[in-house]
Amino acid sequence: MEILKQGNELAQNGREIYSLCLGQPSTPAPTPVLEAAHQALEDEQLGYTDSNGIRALRERIAKHYQDEYDTSVNPDNIVITTGSSAAFTAIFLAAFEAGERVAMTRPGYAAYRNTLKALGYEVVDIDTGPDTRWQPSVEQLEELKKQGKSPAGLLLASPSNPTGTILEPEMLKAIAKWCDENECLLISDEIYHGISFGPECTSVVQFSDQNIAVGSFSKYYSMTGWRLGWAVVPTELVRPVELLLGNLNLSAPTLSQFAAIAAFDTESVAELDEHVKRYAENRRIVLEGLRLISTPLLAPADGAFYCYADVSHLCEDSAQWAAELLEATGVAVTPGIDFAPNSKPGDGLDPVLDGKKFVRISFAGSTEEVTTGMDLLVDFVRS
Ligand SMILES: Cc1ncc(COP(=O)(O)O)c(C=O)c1O
Repeated sequence: MEILKQGNELAQNGREIYSLCLGQPSTPAPTPVLEAAHQALEDEQLGYTDSNGIRALRERIAKHYQDEYDTSVNPDNIVITTGSSAAFTAIFLAAFEAGERVAMTRPGYAAYRNTLKALGYEVVDIDTGPDTRWQPSVEQLEELKKQGKSPAGLLLASPSNPTGTILEPEMLKAIAKWCDENECLLISDEIYHGISFGPECTSVVQFSDQNIAVGSFSKYYSMTGWRLGWAVVPTELVRPVELLLGNLNLSAPTLSQFAAIAAFDTESVAELDEHVKRYAENRRIVLEGLRLISTPLLAPADGAFYCYADVSHLCEDSAQWAAELLEATGVAVTPGIDFAPNSKPGDGLDPVLDGKKFVRISFAGSTEEVTTGMDLLVDFVRS
């Protein structure tokens, strides 16, 4: 956020900013969604909906699980939320008692940590590195158990933010099995599904109806500001989550709910897959730029629109480096400290994995912006 603020200040003073830091598509919602939104404005009253969302959208999402993952999901187990962000809050509150341990990866999405802490849970960091492609392993969960720190829940993201890596189906299955055997609720953040550069995206609902899968219209579906997400939850959690959503948000945005049904249309998917092709080209440009400054990725991004790059040969502190890069070139990247905080020296984080050594580069923007941004970044390093 500090980098964004600095970037906004520079932009106000007339500087051109190349954003390689934003985690959102630079494209509008697919055409059928826009058309459906216009139609809903004409036809619908657009008041509050049921707290768990309109039935038609829940049924359409259930069909998506059948088509995409060959898995039958009951629409009654789907809740529609205000972005996936609202799903996480409601799930945490419904599933865990205050003070319980919830494990997440470091590096990991900062809002998980902040939300969990704000709600009074103990965050247990699972430090991941290139050896497991920045994803947690069963061995690490076993180690936590041995230390008497078995978590009540495990939160993982595949494709991951900030690293873009995807868990192999067998590894995800093994983690799901471990969670099942150890009374640990598995919450799988699947909001980047659909944006893959090869590997398959597996959903945890393929393994058991006791796992939670969280989805969103913000990333692949290019509907970030429409604030719409969903979760597939075990039957016993449906009612508590629904009640919490009703109290916290009343209901998710109604216009977005009606429009989002069309996000799964063939025409929408064709449009969205073109964006994924652009992300693939942007990714190629970022990887080439990183090669030129001798920063090969430790584990290349398989999906999402991020690369997590080690810049420790260029600086002591990537936050400082990102600020200097922005000031000198107008290129904004995100310091790794956002994802892998190491605020207390000696807190157990392997110094090799310290966020201070990394930056996250987003390639969600236009190919033009990513090309210019990377050219400027390479020139900055070489000058
Ligand atoms: C890993 C991850 N999870 C969840 C979110 C929240 O997204 P939204 O609330 O827009 O669905 C983000 C946003 O960037 C994210 O990167």
